[in-house]
Amino acid sequence: MMKVVVTGACGFIGSCLARRLLSNGHEVVGIDNLSRAGSSFNAAELEAAGMRLERVDLSDTEKTLALFESLGPVDAVFHLAAQVAVTTSYTDRERDFRYNAVASFNVIESIKRHTPSAYALYASTNKVFGHLEVHQPVGMEKPLDPYTPYGVSKAAAEMYFTEYGRPEIGLRTCSFRQSCIYGHHQFGVEDQGWMAWFAIANLHGLPITIYGDGRQVRDLLYVEDLIDLYLEAWEAGLTGVYPVGGGPDNSIDLRRGLELISAHSGKEFNLTHAETRPGDQPYFVADLGWLADSGLAWRPRVGVEEGVERMLDWISEHRAVIDAALSERLAAI
Ligand SMILES: NC(=O)c1ccc[n+]([C@@H]2O[C@H](COP(=O)([O-])OP(=O)(O)OC[C@H]3O[C@@H](n4cnc5c(N)ncnc54)[C@H](O)[C@@H]3O)[C@@H](O)[C@H]2O)c1
Repeated sequence: MMKVVVTGACGFIGSCLARRLLSNGHEVVGIDNLSRAGSSFNAAELEAAGMRLERVDLSDTEKTLALFESLGPVDAVFHLAAQVAVTTSYTDRERDFRYNAVASFNVIESIKRHTPSAYALYASTNKVFGHLEVHQPVGMEKPLDPYTPYGVSKAAAEMYFTEYGRPEIGLRTCSFRQSCIYGHHQFGVEDQGWMAWFAIANLHGLPITIYGDGRQVRDLLYVEDLIDLYLEAWEAGLTGVYPVGGGPDNSIDLRRGLELISAHSGKEFNLTHAETRPGDQPYFVADLGWLADSGLAWRPRVGVEEGVERMLDWISEHRAVIDAALSERLAAI
């Protein structure tokens, strides 16, 4: 049994990771301040399943250092806590900076001081590439050029993880620049988590707005595939920075996403249209070519059609919790 810290453990990806780690028999310490509306539902489920939840705001330096000191050495830290909405990064720039840049600095510095042998993985984002005008998969040849406050605060955090991984500081750090992740336990709303938001809106008969022409292309990665990658990267001790998504085989535009959802649910969408939002890349597909030299066997396994079906089935079976989480989240926007 390993001792593992998951920050943002009550969010979408963090809760899926924590669930998997618990079912694999590991001791899981989840750190989350439950700032993301809806996260209390995952908190209750995970605490019942045996996760120790520490309700700490990671942008509080003293509390974060004290918490890691009290935990002592752990085997791995998966740092997923973040302010995740681009829209909020414009309306509340200070919080975006604190929750992404300051909190991540506090986490990596805490690892250095109190558990320097731990494997340290950071969930970065394709938004650090900025407003790319490309129509082919993006690998590491593209420079960091973030656009949007969210892109900047996530890039700053990622760079700290990279710097702490250099020989002068010497941690074992890895960052994944994640594309669109989707799946169960994602309480998507308009400002973040578009596939889940479209699926929930379709099943619940809610109106949605398409920003831009709906031709924006994304490579979708089903959340359980991402968790497989996290665990294999940890086991292999993979370090460095890599783009991660579903890759070219799992790339669709927004309109195709709507079609797939309607085809499975049998329900039409109630659509309106609006201008493209700032920072909305017209095309992003991760170049997964780095896998060939990584020594990892991982490849995305759940295709988009299967993933969308699984997500819709989960939403249908969890109507009550989604209604409750969504009303909290919509009230917070
Ligand atoms: N979901 C995606 O498609 C996607 C894509 C690219 C990158 N990412 C990154 O993956 C990570 C997880 O994303 P998610 O979709 O699960 O988001 P989420 O909002 O569902 O989860 C984030 C969690 O972090 C917690 N949190 C936020 N600030 C905190 C703080 N200061 N202290 C403690 N806890 C805090 C929130 O309460 C929430 O439970 C984030 O770092 C995000 O930037 C996600």
